[in-house]
Amino acid sequence: MIEEGSWRERITVIWGDITGIQVDAIVNAANETLLGGGGVDGAIHRCAGPGLLEECRKLHGCATGKAVITSAYRLPARFIIHTVGPVWHGGSRDEDALLASCYHKTLELAKTHGVRTLAFPAISTGAYGFPRRRAAGIAVRVVKEFLERDETIEKVIFVCHDGENCAIYQELLGVGQ
Ligand code: APR
Repeated sequence: MIEEGSWRERITVIWGDITGIQVDAIVNAANETLLGGGGVDGAIHRCAGPGLLEECRKLHGCATGKAVITSAYRLPARFIIHTVGPVWHGGSRDEDALLASCYHKTLELAKTHGVRTLAFPAISTGAYGFPRRRAAGIAVRVVKEFLERDETIEKVIFVCHDGENCAIYQELLGVGQ
């Protein structure tokens, strides 16, 4: 059993741009086509370059709640794990479970590819309209539960792109106050 509370030392929150983070894998908040878009998806494709889109085309999409892995091309990371978050419809269409699945499937995929350091954006909280605090609570719970029973992943970074998300994650993790 992993030492009680050690998960806390393996999670950090930063305010920044995920495309510049030097980790084994960064996570993309993609859509089901995997062919790029705006937000973090657009930033990742812009920085990774055309090779990423070519590889994504061959994957023929990704269902909501699932995750797929590609190379990271011109990004400093080794891999990109693309996951498709749920569009928020008010909470009655399994949005919480689907968002939790994004984090869980991403962590499982990271583990099977020997990823030891990972950076997540705040999946679904932009264009997909998921309430930030609710989404952050799901993200922290799923990552905490995974790290409590798995020690192969050494570091998970929540990369926030705005002050509100950053404050929410810091509050949930009891840091930075
Ligand atoms: N680094 C880190 N986080 C970022 C960055 C960045 N460079 N750019 C945006 N974000 C943040 C947003 O501020 C938001 O908190 O990522 C979070 C997710 O927002 P979106 O990128 O809009 O993703 P999402 O809400 O999951 O919607 C996905 O948007 O971009 C399209 O193709 C994508 O159709 C898909 C949809």
